[in-house]
Amino acid sequence: MKSKLFLQCRECNHQIPDFKTWFSNWQKCDQCGGHKVIVHYHSGYEPLKKLVRKGLEPKNIWHYFDYLPLLDKKNIVTFNEGIVPIERWDFIERYAREVLNLDCKIYVQRNDLNPGTGTFKDMAGTVVASALRENRYDNYVVASTGNIATAYSKYLSAARIALYAFIPHNSSILQEAHIGGYGQRVFRVDGDYEAAKTMAVEFAAKHRILLAAGNFDPLRIEAKKTMVYEWLRVLKDFPTVYIQALSGGTGPLGIEKSFMELEPLNLVSHLPRQILVQSSKCAPMAIAWEKARNSNFPEGWQNDYPIIKKPQTTIPTLATGNPKTYPFLSQFVRKTGGDIIAGDESKVIHVARLIAMERSVLVGPAAALPVLGLFQALHSGRIFNGDIVVLNLGEGVLREPDFTQKYITKKPMITKLSECQPLKRNRKISQQWQKIAQLFT
Ligand SMILES: Cc1ncc(COP(=O)(O)O)c(C=O)c1O
Ligand SMILES: [Zn+2]
Repeated sequence: MKSKLFLQCRECNHQIPDFKTWFSNWQKCDQCGGHKVIVHYHSGYEPLKKLVRKGLEPKNIWHYFDYLPLLDKKNIVTFNEGIVPIERWDFIERYAREVLNLDCKIYVQRNDLNPGTGTFKDMAGTVVASALRENRYDNYVVASTGNIATAYSKYLSAARIALYAFIPHNSSILQEAHIGGYGQRVFRVDGDYEAAKTMAVEFAAKHRILLAAGNFDPLRIEAKKTMVYEWLRVLKDFPTVYIQALSGGTGPLGIEKSFMELEPLNLVSHLPRQILVQSSKCAPMAIAWEKARNSNFPEGWQNDYPIIKKPQTTIPTLATGNPKTYPFLSQFVRKTGGDIIAGDESKVIHVARLIAMERSVLVGPAAALPVLGLFQALHSGRIFNGDIVVLNLGEGVLREPDFTQKYITKKPMITKLSECQPLKRNRKISQQWQKIAQLFT
């Protein structure tokens, strides 16, 4: 089948005609060995305007088939992911207005509602599984902090492709159960994410199996860019701020790619300021960013970042201790006028409880963290009057049993009826709000 796309090396501009060639070159540029590429579509992007029209009712991400790296629709493996509600969270808007005198709109992209495995990694799952099926691969190796391996395990099992997932020592037991449950092979490495990556690379080389290409993987970037298509299709106003929990940074890299496509079409006029939130217990990018900003971004600032070994965190999903994407990602964040910040891990549960009471949704720690980051951004003058914020809510509670248990505030065991008092729900909610206010004063 004729290729509808080509890949262009970011280092030397060499063109790779299709994913078949890219895979057979072990996902490297055959001219310079670079691994960062941009996918271009021969059709140009004008037809995209029709796909992002309002009033359409797409079922899944494959609504954007013409701009995804697959040639034949018959290879699609899907659980109807990628088209999720974008909700207005007016309870935070009210807080901003009443407490900080700030008028802004807060939209939340409910990626926890993705039907595959309930995280925003399902978008990558469908694209990767479909592309591997099309190019006739039946084995794949991935190193993952958890959510991406869980998504791949399900989508690849649906495509009858074997997955070898290398996860760090502290990944959630449920993640291990899910991956194994789909009949895939999971290896828990006695070390951090970096150690899991090293083992995965060696295993893939030894057995000559294709290895998931990490945060610069063009398949993942192509999948994530569709978040921006969705903003265009669904929202009346284009966002001025994007907030996401940050681990390796594929989400913002997808946003960067979408702009290359959309800007020449005049569909977008500005890049949303990227406010990316790391956990305080594993925040190499936030640490590096703060240092660079405080010294006014001196020459070579983007290459100066710490490596956190064996991070002691309760959010292992986000624990990328060696952030190899930083030199590239940080420059993009700067270009957008954004920020990389750290959210105090011990505060995350309080925000999660508030979300549960106000919106009737239980979120996992990697989803509550960016909401904590939003509160921090509101309080530290990073959100302006008139801002339109889109926040990526990336996971529900399916993954982290230890975190989920923290929703329990009172021991329910009683011995006599007199211990059972009627619930004053409104008072409970206002107490939760007071707790939130205390976190930021
Ligand atoms: C729920 C959730 N949010 C955010 C992220 C961060 O993704 P990235 O930094 O690759 O864009 C992850 C990564 O595992 C995640 O699982
Ligand atoms: Zn090259």
